Amino acid sequence: MVRNYTDEPVDLQALDRIIEAGVRAPSAGFSQGQRFVVITDSETRARVAQAAGEHEYLEKGFDAWISRAPVHIIICADKKAYLDRYSEQDKSGTDDWTVPYWWIDAGASFMAILYAAVDEGLAAGFLGAHTTEGLRSMLGIPQDILVAGIVTLGHGAPDLRSGSLARGRTARDEVIHWDSW
Ligand SMILES: Cc1cc2nc3c(=O)[nH]c(=O)nc-3n(C[C@H](O)[C@H](O)[C@H](O)COP(=O)(O)O)c2cc1C
Repeated sequence: MVRNYTDEPVDLQALDRIIEAGVRAPSAGFSQGQRFVVITDSETRARVAQAAGEHEYLEKGFDAWISRAPVHIIICADKKAYLDRYSEQDKSGTDDWTVPYWWIDAGASFMAILYAAVDEGLAAGFLGAHTTEGLRSMLGIPQDILVAGIVTLGHGAPDLRSGSLARGRTARDEVIHWDSW
């Protein structure tokens, strides 16, 4: 995650390829329920930054990484696309949604977008949906569309590293279990 960007704009063809990576991420039953709001307008980005609490990052010593990012991609999910798809005949009725696939697929798109950004020589960050209160009305996102979070995208600049990184990386043998847990 990069939390600072230069003011160089993102090439629109590169942006299109990055969005395409998000669109083409896998989806359960090919429901294709991922939705995206792409913002380049600087005034709107400033409003998104305000809604996402950029001042709290500034207070902690971070740069104005949200408003400064030349592109925001709001990752959303259309839950109804999954409910509709899984009521089709080849899905034999219903799923109990123990695992809500719309969140998995939003995450797959999010990760595909991050990888595509790096492939384009760009940098990206992410803000979870807990910070996105107020975005819905601001951007006209319908009530039944779920918001997963915001990707910030741009040419990376030196940033303050997240305090979370001080936790260090969890040991591999705690994370990976070969043959059995
Ligand atoms: C689901 C999710 C939510 C996140 N929410 C935030 C957030 O609200 N603000 C933020 O600065 N970083 C957020 N992050 C970024 C993490 O803090 C970051 O991935 C972690 O510090 C590790 O850094 P790295 O991904 O650069 O290795 C989020 C990451 C994920 C996967």
